[in-house]
Amino acid sequence: MTEVPAGKAASFEDGSQRIVFHGDVEIGVFRWGGKFYAYENLCVHQGGPACEGVLMHQVEDVLASDRTFVRQKFSDTDVHFVCPWHGYEYDLTTGECVGDRRLKLRRYPVVERGGEVFVVAE
Ligand code: FES
Repeated sequence: MTEVPAGKAASFEDGSQRIVFHGDVEIGVFRWGGKFYAYENLCVHQGGPACEGVLMHQVEDVLASDRTFVRQKFSDTDVHFVCPWHGYEYDLTTGECVGDRRLKLRRYPVVERGGEVFVVAE
């Protein structure tokens, strides 16, 4: 196992992301809600830089009691990042493709030690 430095924890604003390199593998590191997440920057669709896309709250349907559509709203809790090539969306906390949760990005553990952030890679 190798710990890939990703920078000082204090330099990561909540809701920010950055790319680190482990050999020829690109890894996207995100900070959200005070937690860190890391995924291989390789979209399951056609290999685009999924982790370089925008972060956005999931859009949810609001239904009436009779299950008819009322409106849509942004989720208070679920956040996605969106591959910039064709728009595949990924759950920030799991790396799952929200259109088909059987598909997911490779996930890496992240450790914070002494104010520094490291991605644990093989
Ligand atoms: S390569 Fe990511 S959506 Fe197509």
